[in-house]
Amino acid sequence: MISNFKGKTAVLTGAGSGFGLECARIGAKLGMNLVLVDVQKDALDAAEAELKATGVQVMARLVNVSDAAQMQALADDVKATFGAPNFVFNNAGVAAGGLLWENTQADWDWVLGVNLWGVVHGVRLFTPMMLEAAAKDPSFQGHIVNTASMAGLLNPPNMGVYNVSKHAVVSLSETLYQDLSLVTDQVTASVLCPYFVPTGIHQSHRNRPADTPAAPPTRSQLVAQAMSDKAVTSGKITAAQVAQFVMDAVADKRFYIYSHPQALGNVQTRMESIVTGHNPPDPFAAKPEIGQRLREALRKP
Ligand SMILES: NC(=O)c1ccc[n+]([C@@H]2O[C@H](COP(=O)([O-])OP(=O)(O)OC[C@H]3O[C@@H](n4cnc5c(N)ncnc54)[C@H](O)[C@@H]3O)[C@@H](O)[C@H]2O)c1
Repeated sequence: MISNFKGKTAVLTGAGSGFGLECARIGAKLGMNLVLVDVQKDALDAAEAELKATGVQVMARLVNVSDAAQMQALADDVKATFGAPNFVFNNAGVAAGGLLWENTQADWDWVLGVNLWGVVHGVRLFTPMMLEAAAKDPSFQGHIVNTASMAGLLNPPNMGVYNVSKHAVVSLSETLYQDLSLVTDQVTASVLCPYFVPTGIHQSHRNRPADTPAAPPTRSQLVAQAMSDKAVTSGKITAAQVAQFVMDAVADKRFYIYSHPQALGNVQTRMESIVTGHNPPDPFAAKPEIGQRLREALRKP
């Protein structure tokens, strides 16, 4: 929970686009010091220029969040320049689709590297700094928000690698919330679980590094790409609205942050199946044509 954002420091990963950039824009309006982290240089440069022009202090760092040494250097820089951050948004993420058994080791390494290890590094490097600041100063307030997805609460077919990465982030975040509540009242955590929102996420292969190269796409991967293009670009809630939900949750100390609470019926049905021992239900039960289209596309000879 943060009750006064002015002059407080925010570290935002994936700050060059989408939710990260929109949260940075709100942070600038609130008068926060901003640490912008991204792996895409042109997007990071543009964000840095835009946010510096608002008059707040900005540190921009070209960092691959899955790289432990780069994240350590980032954490050292932040500590030396601003001290412990108050708001850490572990948000950078990428997606790969297709049938589980068709994903290569490089697909797993890339997606888990960014979506899970990026969050792990952010948590293991910044939390101790925040706890140390809280111990020294009873007025210090800190909040860590990790970006998961509705794919961290549901298991839609044909996107298993992404689902696994996001379920791990939900688990990590819930545990972080519990662990923090054991040791302090000054630092807490939340998890962001968006549904489909128009951002650059469906084009995340633009930043795929050469050490985890993509294999030629299989049919299921082409189908997944087409579905993700359509679902993401036709989302009606904007990234700016989601960013406002994030900042409101930080101010209100709310753990679960949703973009589309109306989609939670699917989560409820899944949870009921778990406790009653029924087989997994259709994660898009309200739209059975989605599963039908997938079956047709993947079974045709
Ligand atoms: N948009 C959606 O529909 C949606 C839904 C659920 C979850 N999410 C999650 O939201 C988060 C933010 O994504 P977005 O939708 O704003 O997409 P986006 O592509 O617009 O923004 C993601 C940013 O992360 C950066 N990034 C990618 N790999 C990185 C790396 N290795 N190190 C540092 N930065 C890296 C990208 O350059 C980009 O600027 C992601 O974790 C994504 O999985 C998005």
